[in-house]
Amino acid sequence: MIIAVDGPAASGKGTIAKALARHYHLPHLDTGLLYRAVAANVARMELDPAKEADAVAACDFGALILADPVLRTDEIGQAASIVSAHPLVRAALLQRQKRFAHQAGGAVLDGRDIATVIAPDADAKLFVKATPQIRARRRHTELQTHGSTLSFDKVLTDIRARDERDSSRSAAPLVMAPDAVLIDTSFLSIEASIEKAIAIVEAHS
Ligand code: C5P
Repeated sequence: MIIAVDGPAASGKGTIAKALARHYHLPHLDTGLLYRAVAANVARMELDPAKEADAVAACDFGALILADPVLRTDEIGQAASIVSAHPLVRAALLQRQKRFAHQAGGAVLDGRDIATVIAPDADAKLFVKATPQIRARRRHTELQTHGSTLSFDKVLTDIRARDERDSSRSAAPLVMAPDAVLIDTSFLSIEASIEKAIAIVEAHS
């Protein structure tokens, strides 16, 4: 069984994807981490993704480090949304994600283009959303617990900028697949969101 979970930043898609993976005993890939790792690599190599896309795409994508806590920062999230707009970067990460999705036994993947590009054949496709204000509030609280002093307004501005970039790019934009099922987590608890997600998967598999 392949489960695709897409949605914007801080919508709750990662939490839902992890819970589904636990519930169905499936491996899980947070594909945003791949783009975050590329962004961190680009920063380390002091490359400008706008001007040196070829050099960015020539990086060793097999050697990306996905466990670094720095990948979770807001700066890296913004940088990831810039490098991820490059078709060459997306192409370099495509097969790895497709292989993960289509491994024997199935998988859960979350990201922006899982249902549309990585696994259009997924058994269940979920699109998770919430209002920008609510997503910014969640992200702000999460960043604060990690010692960040970013203001709520800055987090909201960043979320809006990232939404705009992710939705308007021409390479695999953030868009709900026509056959995906929407979960609006704006006014749902984590538990209720997970219950809803499991009910949707049950109905589609
Ligand atoms: O999900 P997360 O916030 O970690 O993703 C970071 C950035 O990586 C996103 O803003 C998006 O630009 C990019 N991304 C993507 N395609 C995916 C997952 C993430 O373009 N499948």
